[in-house]
Amino acid sequence: MAHLSSSLLLLFLLLFFSLNLLQTAIARGGQRLHSGFVDERYAASGRHLSEETEENHFQKLNTLAHGYMTNSDIEKAIKAFHGRCGRISRVYSIGKSVLGVPLWAMEISNNPGKEEAKPAFKFIGNVHGDEPVGRELLLLLANWLCDNYMKDPLATLIVDNVHLHILPSMNPDGFSLRRRGNANNVDLNRDFPDQFFPMNNDLDERQPETKAIMRWIRSIRFTASASLHGGALVANYPWDGTEDKSKSYYACPDDEAFRYMAKLYSGSHINMSHSNEFEAGITNGAHWYPIYGGMQDWNYIYGGCFELTLEISDNKWPPANELRSIWQFNKKSMLNLVASLVKSGIHGRIFSSDCGEPLSASIAIKGINYTIKARESLADYHRLLAPGHQYEVVATMPGYKTRSTTILMREEAMMVDFILEPDVTQADSFLPSRCSSRNYFHIMDVISKPQLQISLTLLLVLAFLYFLMKRKAIVNHFKARRAKGQRRGSAV
Ligand SMILES: *[C@@H]1O[C@H](CO)[C@@H](O)[C@H](O)[C@H]1NC(C)=O
Ligand SMILES: *[C@@H]1O[C@H](CO)[C@@H](O)[C@H](O)[C@H]1NC(C)=O
Ligand SMILES: [Zn+2]
Repeated sequence: MAHLSSSLLLLFLLLFFSLNLLQTAIARGGQRLHSGFVDERYAASGRHLSEETEENHFQKLNTLAHGYMTNSDIEKAIKAFHGRCGRISRVYSIGKSVLGVPLWAMEISNNPGKEEAKPAFKFIGNVHGDEPVGRELLLLLANWLCDNYMKDPLATLIVDNVHLHILPSMNPDGFSLRRRGNANNVDLNRDFPDQFFPMNNDLDERQPETKAIMRWIRSIRFTASASLHGGALVANYPWDGTEDKSKSYYACPDDEAFRYMAKLYSGSHINMSHSNEFEAGITNGAHWYPIYGGMQDWNYIYGGCFELTLEISDNKWPPANELRSIWQFNKKSMLNLVASLVKSGIHGRIFSSDCGEPLSASIAIKGINYTIKARESLADYHRLLAPGHQYEVVATMPGYKTRSTTILMREEAMMVDFILEPDVTQADSFLPSRCSSRNYFHIMDVISKPQLQISLTLLLVLAFLYFLMKRKAIVNHFKARRAKGQRRGSAV
């Protein structure tokens, strides 16, 4: 009993201060070469260029490559970044290319490598070997975040509230060969399992770069991501393929959320939204032209991850002296896209009412045929939603009563926690022994120890203030907060 009351008190304190912390956080608040259905895995070799033209093409790109980082320069730059910014970063490899080049990734976070109840975002560059702008921009992005953490509010917001993973080059072999495909001349953006056409679903045929990405998506719970391409200027969103292979708009269940994300990118870009070709600088993939086996659709279907395919420069391989300005054109877009995981969507955690145990429940939105699952360990979930609508959020977990709540999504993030009651009609699976004492301590994960200390200090300061200040002053304080438009979290 004493156990219970002390943990209830702890729960109350943590809830109170996690709300506070969350509110503060909020306040800081491919190239498509061809039209039509073309399996470009084969198209790459079927371009009917004469040997001489291909050789010329290689020479041209080789000349253009002056001023671009080589694969070993990229590795050095990643390690130098980590050397400079070790406190907020981690460097790791997700696998190797066909020719054995490590696929280096950086994680940027104030707690790199630690599992926390925060959303994760990933950027992938250089999917196509001859589209090298992304890999340069991603290193500029990493270094900018490092240089501006604790100085710029957006940098701080991202580092403190998101686990940002960056893979500058998915296709280092293609880069050094100056061509689209990898060393086996496979187009990696056609090499993923496809929802309609299992033409390349033989795992043994899958390329090592693709396999590495698939393992990565399964090991890290990404909420959203973007891959960077060149050859056009547009933000592309799912679906990329249609069931009947027609070139037509094919909306995925989260079409609205994707349009919101894509518009956030194009609207923050210097001129992507002024496109003559694409309305508002965004496009549904299949509407542009369908592809199959793409990375974007696979992320959404199998990874629970909302991925955009960003075409960031009309010129696939511009002279290196243009990279700085292309970075400036895309910088705000890239930052805003990552920050959207903190500034929009719904977020929360799910606990059982009997033990306070975190539950890896499913979260769905009524009317949208798409379900995400809360993380196994911490039971946090993060879901993007287009603002301006009312949504019914439904939490389900076998053995528990389903709960739902209706929210009005505005232009800011919402915190919605769920506390699920065991379904007593299925009582046999709910013996009291289910609530092992170990479960009480999961709640400690909500807030890390330093934050807990800050919270306790805050508690003392607040108690002191309470006695010092007049009641009215406190009322005014809350009025002012409300005026700033911050939303209180809620538990349902
Ligand atoms: C955007 O600006 C770049 C650089 O000035 C230019 O090359 C490109 O054509 C512009 N695109 C649009 C859609 O205005
Ligand atoms: C929901 O999506 C699944 C595929 O994820 C599909 O099999 C099912 O038919 C869809 N249900 C409805 C009602 O559209
Ligand atoms: Zn591409």
